[in-house]
Amino acid sequence: MTWEELKLSCESCKRCPLGDTRTKLVFGTGNRDAKLMFVGEAPGGEEDKTGIPFVGAAGKLFDKYLEAVGIGRDEVYIANILKCRPPKNRDPLPEEQDVCIDYLREQVRLIKPKMIVCLGRISAMRLISPDYRITREHGKWIKKGQYDMTAVYPPSLLPRDESRRDEMLADMMEVARRYNEMK
Ligand code: URA
Repeated sequence: MTWEELKLSCESCKRCPLGDTRTKLVFGTGNRDAKLMFVGEAPGGEEDKTGIPFVGAAGKLFDKYLEAVGIGRDEVYIANILKCRPPKNRDPLPEEQDVCIDYLREQVRLIKPKMIVCLGRISAMRLISPDYRITREHGKWIKKGQYDMTAVYPPSLLPRDESRRDEMLADMMEVARRYNEMK
């Protein structure tokens, strides 16, 4: 499947009810040849309006971390486990993830990143391990297949929980260190 074919099939997707309730599909954004990919959970309100991941309050804070560690948003690729917003920003249901994850897999196959960073628990449970504990395991790196992977706190938590911000910065600094080493 080509990138364009994949995008078209997402745009017309009715594999779960979120295809009917979303405003815009949030396919993903950034560099299609990225070596580093970030994967969040699901679009929120602002993302649903604009069709771009991580543009709301959490996204703006995430941008600050990217800037702080010297990673340009346009050099990486940013996507979510779900491409459509769950109503009232509830957690994605397992059955929604089951059908949507195929699109993400295809994106990963086409982009061929070397590093994948999960933004939050839902993404880490899907991509790293079903029993992933974000408080205990964030910032730890594993090799899974051909990918170097880690998870950091979800940016949506950070506006509300300042106590996690130093840990987030440390984790993001390590992301940047590995990324610069690999580039
Ligand atoms: N915005 C996104 O696009 N994804 C998240 O997981 C959170 C906020």
